[in-house]
Amino acid sequence: MSLLLTGGMGYIGSHTVVQLLDLGQDVVILDNLSNASEKVLERIEEITGKQPLFVKGDICNRDDLNRVFTEHQIDAVIHFAGLKAVGESNEIPLSYYHNNVSGSVTLFQAMADHNVKQLVFSSSATVYGEHNLSPLIETMPTSATNPYGKTKLMIENILFDLAKSDSEWSIINLRYFNPIGAHASGLIGENPNGIPNNLLPYVAQVAVGRLELLSVFGDDYDTPDGTGVRDYIHVVDLANGHVKALEKLSALSGCYAINLGTGNGTSVLEIVNTFSSVCGHEIPYQVVPRRAGDIATVFANAEKARSLLGWQAEYDLNTMIEDTWRWQSSNPEGY
Ligand code: WQD
Repeated sequence: MSLLLTGGMGYIGSHTVVQLLDLGQDVVILDNLSNASEKVLERIEEITGKQPLFVKGDICNRDDLNRVFTEHQIDAVIHFAGLKAVGESNEIPLSYYHNNVSGSVTLFQAMADHNVKQLVFSSSATVYGEHNLSPLIETMPTSATNPYGKTKLMIENILFDLAKSDSEWSIINLRYFNPIGAHASGLIGENPNGIPNNLLPYVAQVAVGRLELLSVFGDDYDTPDGTGVRDYIHVVDLANGHVKALEKLSALSGCYAINLGTGNGTSVLEIVNTFSSVCGHEIPYQVVPRRAGDIATVFANAEKARSLLGWQAEYDLNTMIEDTWRWQSSNPEGY
């Protein structure tokens, strides 16, 4: 029996593929390569000695999906595929609603047609909106202010309704906090298209000389050093959280939201200073006005993942940044 990973060639997907292959699982990847490099396949093989089955296709294409479910014995799905840039989602909302929401519905319909009803969904802490105070807990009210976050929330709600309609479904929505870092080999890592939106890839590209200067978006927040505080979690910890969620699915019925975070908050300047000490040189930065939509502090209550999945984050901040630097310095231009 195999696991289907949609978007499995991406940053989090590829790290999850590695953990699953190392555990002896059979993996099928469906990816349209819109935000991933096919070189990831050879890197996964270099790390694990195995090559997952890769199908180039799109979750929006029913025929692509039916082909995968017909040709492979899929018993569970991890759904990573989707567009994920907050800023871009404001510029092209229809692409986000089409790819993320109707693409997900097409996937869920194909799963139902083939009687595959175990699913882990890649959700996001962004569904907590701007009004909840950290530590964020799964019982808090959800909301979203940008099309990207609204698509994640819509898909969560679709899945809650689906599970209510048919008790055979077993679904876990994993709410990621801020994934960073890379596999210790330095062979796979975060490789955003164009100028990075997120902090860590931007800092890493300044450190390796691809970008000149980091802009720190505000130092007037109500935080210890005035800069934004987030819950950064190692991408391998995150991947292991998916493994634990898969293991739990067969014992569950219904739909569950679970945070994947460390429970700790780290500021932008702490990240910059840690990165400087890891890479051995200064990271030039300038403080600029706040970025629209940012809030001061976001970090997880990580208790439910510990009690329900038997999972907790293990890697510390230094390791996250050492692993980031090893990836970026070994691959200055990415894949
Ligand atoms: C982190 C901190 C910025 C860039 C986003 C999405 C979220 C999830 C993770 C997908 C903040 C500051 C950033 C820069 C900076 N993605 N910053 N200069 O905004 O917490 O979350 O990515 O699920 O949905 O919203 O992550 O890395 O963009 O920002 O000062 O060039 O770094 O203000 O305090 P964020 P981020």
